[in-house]
Amino acid sequence: MSVESDLLLHWYDQNARQMPWRIPPALSKAGQRPDPYHIWLSEVMLQQTTVAAVKAYFLKFTALWPTVEALAAAPDSAVMEAWAGLGYYARARNLLKCARTVVADHGGRFPASLEGLLALPGVGPYTAAAIAAIAFDLPATVVDGNVERVMARLFDEETPLPPAKPILTAHAARLTPQQRPGDYAQAVMDLGATICTPKSPACVICPLTAGCLARAAGTAHLLPRKLPK
Ligand code: ADE
Repeated sequence: MSVESDLLLHWYDQNARQMPWRIPPALSKAGQRPDPYHIWLSEVMLQQTTVAAVKAYFLKFTALWPTVEALAAAPDSAVMEAWAGLGYYARARNLLKCARTVVADHGGRFPASLEGLLALPGVGPYTAAAIAAIAFDLPATVVDGNVERVMARLFDEETPLPPAKPILTAHAARLTPQQRPGDYAQAVMDLGATICTPKSPACVICPLTAGCLARAAGTAHLLPRKLPK
């Protein structure tokens, strides 16, 4: 376990955000896992919407369809209606397709491997890694915009995005611990969302400040750099 992942996990134990699909760190440490259906559903919703907005939709969906079997059996029109406001309806169609595949081909259980998850309709590398890490506690590397920003700053990476993507992914993979990889993935995302924010990072309260190269160089607020569109 690297110093950074250790510090991050300690920080997460005290500061994890509460989300309706999350297991608190104390229970996760004790070996309890969240429902893979909940993690899949929340991660698909989070790809286009903020955590705050997703909470209400997540609660509505799980009230209407408490299991992947229930969602798979729902009429298309009911799911489309419940999705209204989240936008990007192709995602809702993929959601149903995926639920029906999990029921028809996997007995209603999400595959407990990165490869199995990647083979599901509408599940790309990000979602597969998020489900593998968070729901199954597998050491998959989860990289979203938050994680890219944290890595760019930690290692003072001046290469702009998108070319920096593989470099930042390699840093994230190297830091992913074998112990508690699911909590670690959520910790980096929480850090990026609440402390290592895009414009005014709160470096004075960051658990990683001592080892942060951008903090030392005074470049944190400038990273990650981006190629002009
Ligand atoms: N954004 C997307 N997925 C997230 C998660 N699991 N925790 C925190 N922020 C997120």
